[in-house]
Amino acid sequence: MWLIAGTAKRHCKGTTQNSLSVHCVLYFLLLHLHLCSSCPSICVCSSTEADCGGHDLITLPALSLLPSTIQTLLLPNNHFTSLPASAFVNLSSLVRLDLSNNYLDNLPAHVFAELANLTDLSLRNNSLTALDRDLLQGLGSLQRLDVSLNGLGTVPLGLLEHQHGLTWLSLAGNRLQALNRAAFEPLENLQHLELGSNPWECDCNLRDFKNWMEWLIYRGGYVDAVECTLPKDLRGRDIRTVPVEMFNYCLQLDSENGGGAGGTKGGSIPCARATTAPLPETAVVQSESEPVDCARQRYRPVSVRRAIGTVVIAGVVCGIVCIMMVAAAAYGCIYASLMAKYQRELKKRQPLMGDAEAEADSEEKQISSVA
Ligand SMILES: *[C@@H]1O[C@H](CO)[C@@H](O)[C@H](O)[C@H]1NC(C)=O
Ligand SMILES: *[C@@H]1O[C@H](CO)[C@@H](O)[C@H](O)[C@H]1NC(C)=O
Ligand SMILES: *[C@@H]1O[C@H](CO)[C@@H](O)[C@H](O)[C@H]1NC(C)=O
Repeated sequence: MWLIAGTAKRHCKGTTQNSLSVHCVLYFLLLHLHLCSSCPSICVCSSTEADCGGHDLITLPALSLLPSTIQTLLLPNNHFTSLPASAFVNLSSLVRLDLSNNYLDNLPAHVFAELANLTDLSLRNNSLTALDRDLLQGLGSLQRLDVSLNGLGTVPLGLLEHQHGLTWLSLAGNRLQALNRAAFEPLENLQHLELGSNPWECDCNLRDFKNWMEWLIYRGGYVDAVECTLPKDLRGRDIRTVPVEMFNYCLQLDSENGGGAGGTKGGSIPCARATTAPLPETAVVQSESEPVDCARQRYRPVSVRRAIGTVVIAGVVCGIVCIMMVAAAAYGCIYASLMAKYQRELKKRQPLMGDAEAEADSEEKQISSVA
């Protein structure tokens, strides 16, 4: 402030003679008010916080006026549609930045690059459809990131690469159908993850992410809800309640496609995504008259075919076993009756033979006694 007063005085010395004129006083006061408050006229500032929210602004206020020690900058509820790449270059002391409830539809890749101390960034309720993979580069202290209520279709690989300190992340209310597990693996300290209100497709593309999510929960983390939109049979169901065995066919699919590269290639064909899910109970229970969607078209006939195949094989095996048993029983019966008959005949004949011998013996005795 004394510096400002000094410059004002120097200015006044140049323009007037011995005493301060009215012009000088005014100049001094203006300069004093303007620079000492160091706050864009529309904002409300304290020593560490500037609140410029709720003014329907279309362009950023003069942020260069803010003191270099400012820690919180609130810009919500305005009408920003884009930000200049240099918007925050001299605000490296920022800890919290709120850009929620605006109309931002894209962000320059390195707009936050200087904000090494930022821990809390909110981009909630904007119109972002994509994020540059370098957007968070330089944000080495980030702990909370809110990108909910936007139009994001993907989370690019690399976006979260250096976010080891991130503990809270919301991606709720976007247009996400699948997420790449590899994109989330760097988040080793994540505690809270919001994924609700997205059109999740619970097929092979989400399987690895489901596994990662289960690991996160096992570690004590929280995930709100991941309700499936597709396939139809799983609509409204949380993917965490879908048994992992339901995704076993993905391995088969991977090998059929000849490994990972083929798998991702197949994923770009709309119908190839939700293929051959072995959902026997749904396949049997639901009627054929329902509208056939992409996913069903593929996996249902296969499961039905499989079921028919199983029944046929079981029938054939059962038939063979039955025939063999009948044959064995018949053979046993015939053998037993033949043996019984033979035995009976043998018994009938044996006493006769015994009598004959006895007669012969007695005859011999009689002969010998005669002799
Ligand atoms: C940032 O600060 C530097 C030096 O302090 C200055 O030259 C530059 O114009 C400022 N940039 C912005 C965008 O305020
Ligand atoms: C960032 O935070 C560290 C530690 O709190 C502090 O020493 C440093 O001055 C801060 N950087 C800026 C630009 O404020
Ligand atoms: C989103 O932002 C718009 C425009 O600022 C606002 O009208 C709307 O109420 C906000 N919605 C939510 C859920 O915050």
